[in-house]
Amino acid sequence: MMILRSQIARISKSSKLSVNLSLRYQSTLINGQSYSRDEFTNAPSSILALTERQLHQQPSHPIGILRSLIENSLNNYQHLTAPSPIVSTYKNFDELEFPEDHPGRSLSDSYYLNKTTMLRTHTSAHECDVFKKGTDKWILTADVYRRDEIDSSHYPVFHQMEGACVWDDTTKNVEKAIEEELHLLEKALAHTNVITEDVTVNNNPNNPYQLSQRPEVSGLIVKHLKMTLNLLVYNLFKHAQNVDAEPLKVRWIEAYFPWTGPSYELEVLWEGKWLELLGCGVMQQRTLERAGMGHKSGWAFGLGLERIAMVLFGIPDIRLFWSTDARFLSQFESGKISKFVPYSKYPPCIKDVSFWVNKPFHENDLYEIIRECSQDLVESVECIDNFVHPKSQRHSLCYRINYRSMDKNLTNEEANDLHASVIENIKKAFNIEIR
Ligand code: PHE
Repeated sequence: MMILRSQIARISKSSKLSVNLSLRYQSTLINGQSYSRDEFTNAPSSILALTERQLHQQPSHPIGILRSLIENSLNNYQHLTAPSPIVSTYKNFDELEFPEDHPGRSLSDSYYLNKTTMLRTHTSAHECDVFKKGTDKWILTADVYRRDEIDSSHYPVFHQMEGACVWDDTTKNVEKAIEEELHLLEKALAHTNVITEDVTVNNNPNNPYQLSQRPEVSGLIVKHLKMTLNLLVYNLFKHAQNVDAEPLKVRWIEAYFPWTGPSYELEVLWEGKWLELLGCGVMQQRTLERAGMGHKSGWAFGLGLERIAMVLFGIPDIRLFWSTDARFLSQFESGKISKFVPYSKYPPCIKDVSFWVNKPFHENDLYEIIRECSQDLVESVECIDNFVHPKSQRHSLCYRINYRSMDKNLTNEEANDLHASVIENIKKAFNIEIR
């Protein structure tokens, strides 16, 4: 991991959060808590600083507004806010039965404080803890962290809402209880204009019901899950589409998650493309047992907020959510969905970097260095050339970096300085030869 001294200084000046990542220390100190460093440590100070922004707790920020809209649509669910994003790898992965070789565990995909502590990659990390409290119907909101590419819809921090609903499966009346709720959902859906394409198959051998669960109960849980989410998505997207004139189209597809079975994904047709909204499924009984809820059965879902907020508020670039510019923040009002009015589109400064690679590296490591050097001044990074020299067999790569500020005009000189620091730092980090 690379830490820029300039960045440490910048963060500690403006931030209430105390992060001490100096390499002189064997540990990282965050808000008084010390985390020993090891070969897994890869969470940079710039990302740790974002843990205190809490956009989902701000009622007049688009993320906070969307959160409330979802909470109001699911008003008989308990509304929760997740604690600190620093969780154990056990909570994030093992408790949910992620296989040892799952790619999400890799250093190139996730941020680690050390081998056993990380920034949560999804809100599911809190599922067992919430179930342990005995809560049957709940939705929980949190910031989640993933190492990713750089473009207008990817940012290393985003927000998710986890929802769950379970019923006591030891009573004879469980089917009746679910059916009663289904009846209410049916009534509500009768007033909507939604076309549901469902390409999933009941008790699909590749995505089967759980053997420990009666198939009638599994079938009812799946039905309840799908109807609840069809209604929720309709209640959100009716703010973006004239649903009286044109029905909203949603699509259910089969999926896989280690702690749910069967598992599904829900997509919505938006501007001619299927947009993936959420993952969900019937809770694995094993997972519920681990949370002391083995006598209950039900479902869970995890929904990303940024993608939906970009549609509802017409926000063209995910970096804008993190803007502290009053021209962005003052446009939004608690409880209201309003269209973002771009205050300006400053010109981009496009710069390329080409190099010979001496040893393999993961692109996410490159993106991280670019982010670290330039903060939110990079709009996108794209690999535009990738070849192996026919004679020398040397591998060459060229990346195009688009520098553009959301809030001001970036001069060519400023972009050149940023680019020089990007080049210097990737040279150091990857031992590469610039072409
Ligand atoms: N946590 C999953 C994700 O981030 C979504 C999910 C939540 C899937 C709950 C199933 C149940 O992709």
